[in-house]
Amino acid sequence: MRILVTGGAGFIGSHLVERLLRADHDVAVVDNFDPFYEPRRKRRNLAAVRDHARLQLHEADILDAAALQRAFQAAKPERVIHLAARANARLALREPAAYARVLGEGTINVLEQARENGVEQFILGSSSSVYGLNAKVPFAEDDPIGTTISPYAAGKRAAELYGHVYAHTYGLPVTCLRFFNVHGPRQRPDLAVYTFVRLLLRNEPVPFYGDGSSGRDYTYIDDIIDGVEAALHTVFPFKIINLGGNHPVLLRDMVATIESELGVTAERIVLPPQAGDVPRTFADISRAERLLGFAPQVPFAEGVRRFVEWYKREVLDD
Ligand SMILES: NC(=O)c1ccc[n+]([C@@H]2O[C@H](COP(=O)([O-])OP(=O)(O)OC[C@H]3O[C@@H](n4cnc5c(N)ncnc54)[C@H](O)[C@@H]3O)[C@@H](O)[C@H]2O)c1
Repeated sequence: MRILVTGGAGFIGSHLVERLLRADHDVAVVDNFDPFYEPRRKRRNLAAVRDHARLQLHEADILDAAALQRAFQAAKPERVIHLAARANARLALREPAAYARVLGEGTINVLEQARENGVEQFILGSSSSVYGLNAKVPFAEDDPIGTTISPYAAGKRAAELYGHVYAHTYGLPVTCLRFFNVHGPRQRPDLAVYTFVRLLLRNEPVPFYGDGSSGRDYTYIDDIIDGVEAALHTVFPFKIINLGGNHPVLLRDMVATIESELGVTAERIVLPPQAGDVPRTFADISRAERLLGFAPQVPFAEGVRRFVEWYKREVLDD
């Protein structure tokens, strides 16, 4: 298949691109190497496949409709996997309008190109953050969503709704995959596992928000990629599907796991819970199991072990 991946140089995108190339797909990446974290990391993410004969790299901003159109015309994709986004929920609190543009207008631009170019399936990388303060656990796709608490989550929910518009109104098949707390090698440097490993290896104190009882349903990157790849096999008119680990890890256990992997003890700086942070994420993955055969394989501690191995090998210059 010819598959266009927006955000293909990022953490999740670069793993996906490698997997798709291994499966002999033609892959076109659209990424603007956004400077929210260092573009050099993203270039390194793609280094192993940069010269692959089946890879096109379009350095373009999804907010630049003309550049996006050129990428679509060159790639002629049958499928689109849309991952490009500003993805840091905390920064979104400071720059809500900029996030709204990329998550909203940017997504519309990609949907519009998909529609104009007769794309057969559009997969959107959505987020567990859309569940907001949902009190019911685990979070299921049909739970009402009205308690979103961050601009990032609102932007992701808006993107899903635009997906629904294009599915219903223009007949573009759309699958929204709600990723839950993805971790593993190449993780974004702003995310929790990365941050704690870096601080602990420098013998610096770690921020410890609240009483440590907040929980995150960490999902290993390879499991997420399995779910995305499986989603390519079935085209739904419109579907929302959780991709999560289904085993939430409490903050205090997350820190303990990293301490044990590194063989050090962290000094904790206790801070109040952060604005915009939800108390928990916890995926009901029964729909993903049923529709995609999704079955996460990598336990949290093993994912941390693989991350630390990668970090020590490739990033110790941080
Ligand atoms: N990492 C997670 O735990 C997680 C959880 C839920 C959802 N998601 C979603 O998955 C997707 C990928 O996340 P990630 O963690 O790999 O983030 P990432 O920041 O590593 O990747 C995003 C990529 O999008 C690119 N990008 C940003 N703005 C762009 C623009 N205007 N035009 C073109 N490219 C642009 C960036 O350069 C980057 O390479 C995002 O949509 C994110 O919201 C991630």
